[in-house]
Amino acid sequence: MATILLLLLGLLVGLPLLRAHGVTGSAAPTPPPLPVLPVPSYAQLQWQLSEMALFLHFGPNTFTDSEWGSGRTDPAVFAPSALDAGPIIGLGLYLSPWDRHEPVYGDTVAYNEHYLGQMTELLTRYGDVEEVWLDGAKGEGKDMDYMFDAWFALIHQLQQRVVIFSDAGPDTRWVGDEAGVAGYTCWSPFNKSTVTIGHIIPEYSRCGDPFGQDWVPAECDVSIRPGWFWHASEKPKNATTLLDIYYKSVGRNCLLILNVPPNSSGLISTEDMQVLQEFTEIRQTIFSQNFAANATVTASTVRGGLGNQQFAPSNVLQESIYSYWAPEEGQSSWEMLFDLGQSASFNVIQLQEPIQMGQRVIKFRVEIWWMNSGNNC
Ligand SMILES: *[C@@H]1O[C@H](CO)[C@@H](O)[C@H](O)[C@H]1NC(C)=O
Ligand SMILES: *[C@@H]1O[C@H](CO)[C@@H](O)[C@H](O)[C@H]1NC(C)=O
Ligand SMILES: *[C@@H]1O[C@H](CO)[C@@H](O)[C@H](O)[C@H]1NC(C)=O
Ligand SMILES: *[C@@H]1O[C@H](CO)[C@@H](O)[C@H](O)[C@H]1NC(C)=O
Repeated sequence: MATILLLLLGLLVGLPLLRAHGVTGSAAPTPPPLPVLPVPSYAQLQWQLSEMALFLHFGPNTFTDSEWGSGRTDPAVFAPSALDAGPIIGLGLYLSPWDRHEPVYGDTVAYNEHYLGQMTELLTRYGDVEEVWLDGAKGEGKDMDYMFDAWFALIHQLQQRVVIFSDAGPDTRWVGDEAGVAGYTCWSPFNKSTVTIGHIIPEYSRCGDPFGQDWVPAECDVSIRPGWFWHASEKPKNATTLLDIYYKSVGRNCLLILNVPPNSSGLISTEDMQVLQEFTEIRQTIFSQNFAANATVTASTVRGGLGNQQFAPSNVLQESIYSYWAPEEGQSSWEMLFDLGQSASFNVIQLQEPIQMGQRVIKFRVEIWWMNSGNNC
């Protein structure tokens, strides 16, 4: 029989060095370690833990078989026969600032007033909004400014739980591509002042900044189809491709926003539904079977002493990020050992960090020990 042991070695930065005052061995519990700033806001944390969201590009373009509208299409073309918006739970919205229809577009003050008026209507008449998605889309030849600071302030004032997306945050940043792929290491810390909306530094957006002062996690947008809108002639990506995107976005500390455009009936087409179902089933199959579920987990160090339950190594087997292992302070290297007690063959390891206290893990090193007791080769 082969026994597999997983050895996990953490390499961390910014470990809090301050010790709480207390006498070792006293009854007072050891408090959690100091957070490493920046940390997520309440809204950002709930958003980031949700992992995935759907994006629905649906409008006149759906009915004119186009990706870009002119702003002059007759609103009557928008005539879905079977749309039912009832089941939609958790609402976000994208109000494109590039309004090709609006006559005052091009006049900075008048257009910003118009835009804020529309935004106010959207944020006060349709219930709770969880995300406002903004890009810097701007018409060619129009010398006009978008007053982003005023937009952001108004959005935060009108909606308590909202997370604002743009190239530069303030709450979540564009990852920098439309393929749904984040940098191999993707930091939520970021300096908002380093980028402006419409002018990102692709590598910086993809990877974030280990020394960043603002918590601005990346959001990965990608369409299940070649374009953002539904076209009868196009087909969705397959479930294997979506799984690969999932690993490269959610698996890299980001939220995956998957565009699934309704068809001209106002429904998700059958082919897309099938792919989504398969994608869900694949993930269930992969993640429902945890080979480490009954592992004996030990670590070379435990915050508050080896017997401390609050930071015990076995905490890492629980789902929640509020249950975690922490090492003693002031140490530079440590290891964790998972004894699976039996042979297992696997190709996915899920490692998470309690990001409510900031992001500090630079990388993990995983070693696997094969201990063959038989003489099989
Ligand atoms: C982000 O800001 C911090 C603090 O000012 C600074 O140390 C770091 O170098 C900045 N990152 C970049 C890429 O400029
Ligand atoms: C899924 O799509 C990708 C990209 O088009 C392709 O390479 C792959 O073979 C497809 N996989 C399956 C199982 O159809
Ligand atoms: C839209 O998708 C639904 C399935 O959800 C299908 O019944 C309907 O025919 C589709 N409409 C078009 C125009 O393809
Ligand atoms: C863990 O133990 C439970 C209860 O004994 C058992 O049902 C499950 O199959 C075990 N899981 C693994 C991966 O060994």
